[in-house]
Amino acid sequence: MKQQKPLIVANWKMHMTVVKAVSFVQRFRDLVQHPHATIVLCAPFTALSALRYELQKGQGSLLPLGNVQLFLSAQHMFSQEEGAFTGEISPAMVKELASFVLLGHSERRHLFHETDAEVHKKILAAHAVELVPILCVGAFVGEKEGQVSHFVEKKLDEQLRNCLTGLSFSNGEKLVLAYEPLGAIGTGHAEDPQRIGHILYFIRRFLEQQFGAAVAQSVSLLYGGSVTSANAKQFLQEKEIDGLLVGSASLDVEEFVRIVQCV
Ligand code: PGA
Repeated sequence: MKQQKPLIVANWKMHMTVVKAVSFVQRFRDLVQHPHATIVLCAPFTALSALRYELQKGQGSLLPLGNVQLFLSAQHMFSQEEGAFTGEISPAMVKELASFVLLGHSERRHLFHETDAEVHKKILAAHAVELVPILCVGAFVGEKEGQVSHFVEKKLDEQLRNCLTGLSFSNGEKLVLAYEPLGAIGTGHAEDPQRIGHILYFIRRFLEQQFGAAVAQSVSLLYGGSVTSANAKQFLQEKEIDGLLVGSASLDVEEFVRIVQCV
């Protein structure tokens, strides 16, 4: 079932200085008109503080813009509370500045060798400080072939089990789950929306079996991979797709506004 408002998540990756990030938000505020979406900006750590200050000039963490709710997210964090981990950022540090944290993105998995076991620890650590994890799954070779092939189901089942087993949702913990097929990330070749609908249906059933219907319905399921203003609407029309994870198209404020406005 659809969540009430679509969730549009911008993943800026290693782009945007503080100055550029703040001017993006100011321009976004000027351009956007009555959209019906919740927006999350996954900004670099260095820009989170200035963005938070900019957003709080309005009302709390919300932009004062009709229906638009805009939240901040980190793109990564470590699972430990604190300690001698040079260069790392703790859950409590993220929580001071943001409401969400992106975990297990394919670039973290492939370039920095993050494993499902580490991602699992990070989800638990995020929940412990009331951060909402945006868990990325998918991104394995072979996803393109066929329909919801046995192979894709098997790989997804394995990833989901590794990352989510043992989680508790008994205190209202929240989760966002983004499915991103490898061939679609940063390639300009978005997946077929219907095929994504089938895969997200499979993920929803998995969540239902593991955690019950109420939790399964509370999880926002996103699609990510070469989303642009030209294809966003087609994805959002699919029954199981609650929102989008947008990479390169989120760096251009006018294009990002077009995506948000298509909701
Ligand atoms: P893309 O990136 O939109 O540039 O394909 C998506 C992502 O990596 O989250």
